[in-house]
Amino acid sequence: MPAHLHAIANQSARANMPGDELPHDHELVLRVMATPADANINGHIFGGWLMAQADMAAAVLPARMAQGRITTVAFNNFLFKQPAHPGDVLSFYARMLHVGNSSMTVHIAIYAEYLTRQGHFLKVAETTVTYVAIDEQGRPRSVPRPQQAAQLQPYMPPVAENESEKRPAKRFDTEMSALA
Ligand SMILES: CC(C)(COP(=O)(O)OP(=O)(O)OC[C@H]1O[C@@H](n2cnc3c(N)ncnc32)[C@H](O)[C@@H]1OP(=O)(O)O)[C@@H](O)C(=O)NCCC(=O)NCCS
Repeated sequence: MPAHLHAIANQSARANMPGDELPHDHELVLRVMATPADANINGHIFGGWLMAQADMAAAVLPARMAQGRITTVAFNNFLFKQPAHPGDVLSFYARMLHVGNSSMTVHIAIYAEYLTRQGHFLKVAETTVTYVAIDEQGRPRSVPRPQQAAQLQPYMPPVAENESEKRPAKRFDTEMSALA
């Protein structure tokens, strides 16, 4: 079945699914409509395309906080909860979880809103992404402390206060060496 017919069939199949509540403690950082060009042979949106959007979206809060260059160091536990489809409007909600010396870890949740049911959201994916503030030579540099950054710029992202949320992302390389 062509991708656009898959999309129509899937939209009617999803019409009766209960929606998910949007996260009130996250900030909307990107909204984009997925197209048939972003779909795989199943008619679902490519995971790699979604990850690329998530990387751009999640960078918004750390870029604001770092006041300069940043780079992505790690994607942690990317979960594809439900397929997204061509025609879905995808909303990316972000929350800063942890600010280290040079690193900033962001939680990002992605919600699909489909054309025939505006205002009805389904959570399709989530992940945490860690960025590092870098200098002109690409070396890690210290992130301005939140209080310091707040003085420089009136609107700064809040950082998670809950202890379980605040913990830094687990390092995949460290986890793997522990398993070896
Ligand atoms: C990101 C980069 C500059 C870090 O350099 P490095 O010499 O490894 O730096 P460090 O080991 O001192 O780590 C820097 C910070 O990143 C954190 N970090 C490193 N690896 C991590 C991982 N796998 N998961 C989570 N955090 C990690 C460290 O804990 C440290 O945080 P802190 O300063 O807040 O304590 C370097 O690895 C790099 O250039 N990577 C390529 C980046 C890239 O090309 N990204 C894709 C395109 S944007």
